Amino acid sequence: VTSAVYPAATRPLRFSDTLNARNRLYFAPMGLDLCGADGQPTPAFHALYGALMDGGCGFGFLGNASVDASSRYNGRGLKLTSAAHADALRPLFEVARRHAFPLGVQLQHYGPQGMPAQADGVLLSPSGVPSPSTLRKFPDARTVAMTDAQIHACIEQFATAARHAHDAGAPLIQLQASNGYLISSFLSPRTNLRTDAWGGSPLARARFLLAIVERIRAVTNGAAAVTVRLGIDDGLDDGQRPEFLADVVAALEEAGVAAITCSIGVSETFRTFFGEQSLAFERSRHGCRFLKQFTRVPVGFTGSVADVATAERLIADGDADFVGFARAVLADNQLVAKELAGRADSVHRCQWDARCFRDKREPLADRVYCCVNPAYPRPDALQQHYERNPG
Ligand SMILES: Cc1cc2nc3c(=O)[nH]c(=O)nc-3n(C[C@H](O)[C@H](O)[C@H](O)COP(=O)(O)O)c2cc1C
Repeated sequence: VTSAVYPAATRPLRFSDTLNARNRLYFAPMGLDLCGADGQPTPAFHALYGALMDGGCGFGFLGNASVDASSRYNGRGLKLTSAAHADALRPLFEVARRHAFPLGVQLQHYGPQGMPAQADGVLLSPSGVPSPSTLRKFPDARTVAMTDAQIHACIEQFATAARHAHDAGAPLIQLQASNGYLISSFLSPRTNLRTDAWGGSPLARARFLLAIVERIRAVTNGAAAVTVRLGIDDGLDDGQRPEFLADVVAALEEAGVAAITCSIGVSETFRTFFGEQSLAFERSRHGCRFLKQFTRVPVGFTGSVADVATAERLIADGDADFVGFARAVLADNQLVAKELAGRADSVHRCQWDARCFRDKREPLADRVYCCVNPAYPRPDALQQHYERNPG
């Protein structure tokens, strides 16, 4: 229902002739690490995403479904590498369908920022440029440049995962092409130094992403709406910038992508962007506004948006077509519903310390927690550990 207070944010968003979201506010992908070692979701996973779907957003995404069983961030992430994984997600997509809620799944290959399968294991990348923060964590890991055959095999892994997702009832797919993970590392001039057909110009660096989009469209007969989470700014001097991506967003539209959502940062700069909210917000806003000039598909972003009023302003001012929330809706799954109903004063507000993200690689943590959401309280010992070690 369109709100008189938030008319821009509550206008429907069209992904395709048959798929529309009731508003332009979405829950961004968050890998919450609620899966077993086999990559299968636990009941807590279903409960959390069920609560997010019920919280007022018009659409949203399950985070970080790995397309390659050997590419993981930790031992608790979602995998989408078999029909059994798809079957486990089917009930969530069924709930979503009954509520006319476009629930998507994000397909991920962690590439150079993954966790090696063994201590001295291999991490795939376009040119063998390691991620310094990943190396600090896994000093014996080896970051290797992918062969042509490995690139083609990986394109097929994305296509297979998309087919599983589509078979399970996912109407939306999101490709994780940001934040330094594999597709993003192909897009960035800092990490893609290839001189073959997979590197060179911005469009050549996007060839891997475009090939994945094309294969997914083929294996799902164009029925799944494919969206791309595009890394537009690495936050590093020699890294990705919005200005390099004008031709890429035009090519994504040409390839049939249904929406593009912009994101900033790679592992070296996560801390800066998580910590400096106004910097992250302004960089995202600038990049999104710039790239919107080069495509007619909806362009949105997520990053340091705390409330619906801010999202309304972004959309009304033409900075973005849709706006995501991550930490703010982890802190209160009902944030959007409460604010649309005029109950902003009852929202549990995020503290923006990103300890939830820290949980992902903290050996003492066994899932993502929240400082303020009473449903996901961080155990005292872990909270105290963070207080003693601000990190
Ligand atoms: C706990 C946590 C898990 C996340 N997992 C993912 C993920 O699986 N995929 C992804 O693309 N981004 C992930 N992100 C990034 C968010 O989607 C979002 O871009 C980022 O948190 C900034 O938005 P915010 O300021 O609203 O939190 C994660 C963030 C957090 C805090």
